[in-house]
Amino acid sequence: MGLLTQARRDGVRVVTLTNPPINALGFALSGELVAAFDAAESDASIVAIIITGSNGPFSGGADINDFLRRPPADSKSVRDVIGRIERGTKTYIAAIDGIALGGGFELALGCDYRVGTARAKIGLPEIKLGLIPGAGGTQRLPRLIGAQSALEIMLKGDLIDAARARELGIFDALAEGDLIETAMQFARSPRKRISARRAELGAKGGLFAGPFALALAHKSVPSEERGGFAAHKLIDAVEAALEFDFQRGLAREFRLFDELVDSAEAHALMHVFFAERELGKIPGLPAAQPLEIKTAAVIGGGTMGTGIGLTFASAGIPVTIVEPSGEQIERSKQTVLDTFAYQVKRGRMTEEEAKLRTASIDFERDLSAVKNADIVVEAVFENMDVKKEVFAKLDSLAKPGAILASNTSTLDIDTMAAQTKRPEYVIGTHFFAPANIMKLLEIVRGKTASPQTITTAMALGKKLRKVGVLSGNAFGFIGNRMFFDYSREAIALAEEGVPPHRVDAVMKKFGMAMGPFATFDLSGIDVFWRIQQDRKDAVGRRTNIIDRLYQLGRYGQKTGAGIYKYEKGQREPIPDPEVENIFAEEAKAAGIAPRAVNDEEIVKRLVYALVNVGAELLRTGIALRAGDEDIVYIYGYGFPPRTGGPMWYADQAGIAKVYADIKGFGWEGSPLLAELAQSGGKLADHRPTSKELAHA
Ligand code: NAI
Repeated sequence: MGLLTQARRDGVRVVTLTNPPINALGFALSGELVAAFDAAESDASIVAIIITGSNGPFSGGADINDFLRRPPADSKSVRDVIGRIERGTKTYIAAIDGIALGGGFELALGCDYRVGTARAKIGLPEIKLGLIPGAGGTQRLPRLIGAQSALEIMLKGDLIDAARARELGIFDALAEGDLIETAMQFARSPRKRISARRAELGAKGGLFAGPFALALAHKSVPSEERGGFAAHKLIDAVEAALEFDFQRGLAREFRLFDELVDSAEAHALMHVFFAERELGKIPGLPAAQPLEIKTAAVIGGGTMGTGIGLTFASAGIPVTIVEPSGEQIERSKQTVLDTFAYQVKRGRMTEEEAKLRTASIDFERDLSAVKNADIVVEAVFENMDVKKEVFAKLDSLAKPGAILASNTSTLDIDTMAAQTKRPEYVIGTHFFAPANIMKLLEIVRGKTASPQTITTAMALGKKLRKVGVLSGNAFGFIGNRMFFDYSREAIALAEEGVPPHRVDAVMKKFGMAMGPFATFDLSGIDVFWRIQQDRKDAVGRRTNIIDRLYQLGRYGQKTGAGIYKYEKGQREPIPDPEVENIFAEEAKAAGIAPRAVNDEEIVKRLVYALVNVGAELLRTGIALRAGDEDIVYIYGYGFPPRTGGPMWYADQAGIAKVYADIKGFGWEGSPLLAELAQSGGKLADHRPTSKELAHA
């Protein structure tokens, strides 16, 4: 006992979940709840049971770790708790303040009445873990609010606020004053179990209206093999709610849930969930209080600077963009207006908010405008001489204690820090394009960044609603360093005679948002060429293919031709035989013979290129965990989440097999892979030693 408290009030038992931080409904708490309800049911003087949570949340749901292990014998789960309520004869009321998610919300649905405070939020986010609600949610929610609204909520998995929950009839009342007082008002109302109702399609209109609602729903989600595996099962469960009586529907839900919880996809998505939660844990970093960031400045109002400015403004941090070119300022201003106008149009923001946000972005031409900023993010041209000059000036203009950050994609943070008298305040903050949309933020620590600067950057990432991944200061950091090897392999495949469009098609089928060659055309062949010029060692090249494309002015989408050609104003890549000829010529000149390559080899060579370099980044302490690298690839490079990311994918394939393939390709395998192939260990379990960290 000890995860709940009980009190008695006017014939009502008030059961308060006390399992901080989120009152997770693990086996232990579930067991206590069943016992508490047993006791209340056998006490004739009690008419009703109110369930509530302590310290804010009602309950964040089941303990996800419980999904991954066999329950101990005789243990109780959320299903048992709700089953106990079903068999009971008293009235049950859920009193919700804060979040009621997943199993927590299902528990509330098991009750007769639900009341909430204005800040209450409910949701069934299981779909985000590749699961469906598995404690009756798919059967009760359609019975409460109609199958259509229930499907919309469960397929999105997003939070619903109290006002909306009241409107939908999920809450029977909103508490204006004391929550328990409001719940007490239902204590003498008759039982009203949702299981006794019939499910109806429900509201007309909305996403899945009409008699074909379920067929429409199936059509609206990705196919099973492209990530929709849980969504289709969810729709099947809701169909069962419409067709069958409650018990049969529930049995269907349990079966579908149990199938999913053992699936490779759900395990991969749970890995992603845990990896994301672990990002903030930085081994060896002394605890430090993050500095408060109240105002920011961004240097350079180009593509990235404008996006970064928008990101600060959207998080409520006023920002000054410093850009010397008047013309560029006008373009940047227009982008700001267009972006917020679009959000107003999509209903994500009111006109009023858009005005406030727009007004919180200031444009200046002179660097001295940084003087009040708590952080300055430099996003000028990717050129070390320009960056050096900017950092030296910033150091003299920014206030003491302000952080100086660089958005560089490849350049050395230490060199920039060395231009200043405050190297402990210098750090890399590498946003991804478009910066206001992409979730990934690489935070790059040079040798001199203080623990407080690192902690501040991580906290800022959260405030900007980004997924912040800490990287060591090595060429290309984590994401681009891995991308270079992936690119090298894509080019190698084309040199061996595989048409670029086939490589892209195979990788899209694998689940990448975009194939490698389409990505080149998007980010620019010229950018790639420039990196090759600077770093001949790091970006492998067997042929002069990139030089040829560069000389032809085939920079990609921006010049209407790159690896692919493009119709004027269109982004649809069109395969170009001319480029295939160039590949063939260059390959011949370099003595590379064409060969037949099957689809499996294409996937392996590209994904294992990521894995091999990823292992090296782990071994050298540049990346802290394989999970960090998976997050980088999923959030920054469109790697399919259902695979768990490249490193998780390799673990599932088996490192011994992966390593054998890598040797078979004639590559130098990472010593870490060799070691794990021997020991049978997993990349996901590798943690840097203090020596590796010191090295990084
Ligand atoms: P851009 O060329 O669009 O913008 C650079 C801007 O900086 C220009 O408007 C220029 O007028 C301004 N500028 C140049 N020197 C300046 C100075 N001394 N003071 C103030 N402003 C100055 O370049 P983009 O693409 O925005 O890239 C900026 C940085 O972000 C680079 O370091 C780049 O490597 C990095 N980056 C770019 C990504 C991309 O996809 N474009 C992705 C992630 C990082």
